Amino acid sequence: MHDSTPKSPLEQLRPVLNLLADGEVHSGESLGAALGVSRAAVWKQLQKLERYGLALESVKGRGYRLPGGLNLLSSEAITAGLAPASRDLLRQLILCDEVDSTNAQLLARLERGCGHGVAMFAERQTAGRGRRGRNWISPFGGGINLSVGWQFSGGVQLLEGLSLAVGVALARALAEFEVPDVRLKWPNDVWCRGRKLAGVLLELSGDLTDRCAVVVGIGLNVGLRGESPAAIDQPWIDLHSVRPGIDRNRLAAAMLNQLLPLLQAYPERGFGAYREAWLALDQFAGRPVRLQSATREWCGTAAGVDRSGALILDMDGEQRLFHGGEVSLREVS
Ligand code: ATP
Ligand code: BTN
Repeated sequence: MHDSTPKSPLEQLRPVLNLLADGEVHSGESLGAALGVSRAAVWKQLQKLERYGLALESVKGRGYRLPGGLNLLSSEAITAGLAPASRDLLRQLILCDEVDSTNAQLLARLERGCGHGVAMFAERQTAGRGRRGRNWISPFGGGINLSVGWQFSGGVQLLEGLSLAVGVALARALAEFEVPDVRLKWPNDVWCRGRKLAGVLLELSGDLTDRCAVVVGIGLNVGLRGESPAAIDQPWIDLHSVRPGIDRNRLAAAMLNQLLPLLQAYPERGFGAYREAWLALDQFAGRPVRLQSATREWCGTAAGVDRSGALILDMDGEQRLFHGGEVSLREVS
């Protein structure tokens, strides 16, 4: 179930990272002996790690440590956490240290006809994507960056509301770890305490009227460190600040346990099976909001979503429906 892509510069640092992942102090000499390289070579590797936001602490006379350690993803640990139904549905589990975007990788696989039932996780993305060409910041080991490929027959209309249903699935996975204050923001965000915790990006390929495929991409912040979070241009939050100590492998498995059965049954069940749960978690229910497109904006009161997942906006007593796509929802402060 494990696959390997060509080794990136970061992957070449994996052996030293594995040693430092425990967060303990390691001397240059012991690292060199374990890696079979000179102390000078160790020093070079440690300097390279800093470029990935993995700031090391030098402990005088003793060596170096990675404060907080790293809870790295492992295919064995993720597989161990999978429910039997998920094991049956998962065709391939791919873990990468670094890719451009797991969604881009999965789309390419689907186009080659080999992406169905494939789940790819990356410790770091160099070009993680959000909606409409925006960036998803994904520093090494800081979150869960996951894409799952799934093929459907019957046309894309069967996927109506899927990004909202995926939000419900994520909220359910987070509930298993007792993460407090999780809410959903239409159409594709998971929020916690008024800040963005995770985002969902669906990308489609194939014949949209018949046999087509979807990549479900999820970025979820676990513990962002280094300087890269400074590039996030809206309020964000990570699990570390609300519920520290969650094991990333268990969380990754919990996400797959929610997501894979959802994808399998979605053409039959549709958003109707998730609507009540979505409404119960609606961040903006009854609140004044603004909807923006590239050229227009509408103000009103958020009034939940309809059976297809369209946002209902109450504008002076008149209800209007908005279907995902090119609009962004903002709270009126
Ligand atoms: P909307 O979906 O309503 O248009 P949005 O601002 O959340 O709103 P998206 O395209 O869904 O936009 O998400 C991408 C945005 O998410 C980025 O422009 C950035 O503001 C934010 N972002 C990027 N990386 C992260 C991250 N790791 N954590 C939280 N937010 C992030
Ligand atoms: C958003 O909020 O706009 C969606 C962000 C989705 C980010 C995830 S991270 C894994 C997958 N790969 C990507 O390039 N994007 C999604």
